[in-house]
Amino acid sequence: MDPLIEAALKAREHAHAPFSGFRVGAAVEDAEGRVYTGCNIENASYGLTLCAERVAVFKALSEGARRFKRIVVAADTDRLTPPCGSCRQVLWEFCGDVEVVLVNLAGSQESLRLSELLPRPFDASYL
Ligand code: THU
Repeated sequence: MDPLIEAALKAREHAHAPFSGFRVGAAVEDAEGRVYTGCNIENASYGLTLCAERVAVFKALSEGARRFKRIVVAADTDRLTPPCGSCRQVLWEFCGDVEVVLVNLAGSQESLRLSELLPRPFDASYL
């Protein structure tokens, strides 16, 4: 199996999702081939919940990674789970038009470009 998919599936096992029961894992690969993983971390005040994708990207950024090749999102859904709107924005700003690979536990997978998920994005180029 693709090691990045394996990493996302493994990260999903660390999800802290007592409120939704919806467990998500993510793994992002930088230009040097380094892998950073994340899982969703929920909070009793709900709004402070962090999605798996943002945890993975912020971990990568905090360790100095700046250029990214692809991100895998893993969830246990028949319809492959895409990143939420907030994550799409963060991914655009930090990863550009990155490859986004969606996978589930049954082995389905689909690869998209972020620009397909977030057409006409707002970013710092407008400021
Ligand atoms: N969630 C993610 O971590 N990533 C996604 O792509 C979709 C949603 C999380 C947030 C929350 O903990 C739970 O899934 C239900 O929305």
